Amino acid sequence: MDRCNFRCPYCMPDSIYHEDFSFLTPDQRLDFDEIERVARVAAQLGVTKLRLTGGEPLLRPNLPKLVERLVRIPGIEDIALTTNGMLLARQAASLRAAGLHRVTVSLDSLDPAVFARMSGGRGHLQTVLDGIDAACAVGFSGGVKINTVVQRDVNDAGVPDLLARFRYTGVIVRLIEYMDVGNRNGWERNDVITSREMMAQIDALWPLVAVSPAYRGEVATRYHYADGGGEIGFISSVSAPFCGNCSRARLSSDGQIFTCLFATKGTDLRATLRDAKHGKDDGPLRQMLTNIWHRRTDRYSEERQERRSRSESQADRSGEKIEMHYIGG
Ligand code: 5AD
Ligand code: SF4
Repeated sequence: MDRCNFRCPYCMPDSIYHEDFSFLTPDQRLDFDEIERVARVAAQLGVTKLRLTGGEPLLRPNLPKLVERLVRIPGIEDIALTTNGMLLARQAASLRAAGLHRVTVSLDSLDPAVFARMSGGRGHLQTVLDGIDAACAVGFSGGVKINTVVQRDVNDAGVPDLLARFRYTGVIVRLIEYMDVGNRNGWERNDVITSREMMAQIDALWPLVAVSPAYRGEVATRYHYADGGGEIGFISSVSAPFCGNCSRARLSSDGQIFTCLFATKGTDLRATLRDAKHGKDDGPLRQMLTNIWHRRTDRYSEERQERRSRSESQADRSGEKIEMHYIGG
């Protein structure tokens, strides 16, 4: 879903995504049949994990119905949802019943004023916390995680409070380095707090012990609190890019597929999906997905790092990247 009920300044600043912004129209968005078809063909080609994201996926009417259909696809082992949590309390049980495995809630601060600022004045902290509680209560098999984007002088000071709230609850918090996704958030390297910096602070409060990666391509570096308080993860896409291990593809609401968060251009699948002459034949779609995967060479974050070591401009690809709310995290 390209739309969102928040306006996080680092993702969908209110000044751009105002009332008159033209989001996709319902007929431009893939319908559930089309999404299921792309997922089925992708699963035949070896995809095992799906994530529903946005924008805000819970704004899509009847999302549990889509989950139900995706879980049944042979080969799909894991379905996750990334949400801002505003609509989660009322949908947690039906998502669980539909077979959703995991939920990740984006939550940047427990301080109501900071939270309000970071959600563009749209979010309500207690509602999101209720959503997290509801998700924990229904018991997703893959658990509940929290994504926290850390921005210097915006929410960094509140990180220990946020961690303290979720220690010993089973909820895993993942601290994400603020990234230069899209073109509209005015990213500057100085706004980034590196995982190394965060870790040193946290380790001083609650000593951390490294956990070895569960699988190749895992984006978070994981630690346990030595006192048994649970797990915490760091996503260091700016300071330690992991492009070489990335095996994700992202499908936008209008059916374009992107192989990188920082892509400048996707490949349109919708025209093929809607092309009457192919009817129910999945061949052309399968061929497109195979070609895209074989051609992919994306390594934006590694290139960013290389430009930095050559002291070149950080901004030389700005003005052309795809926006985050369009393809999710
Ligand atoms: N840097 C890092 N993370 C971001 N997200 C959105 N924009 C950025 C950014 N510029 C996060 C959201 C959400 C996930 C999908 O991506 O907070 O948790
Ligand atoms: Fe919406 Fe998530 Fe973007 Fe915030 S970060 S505006 S909640 S899609």
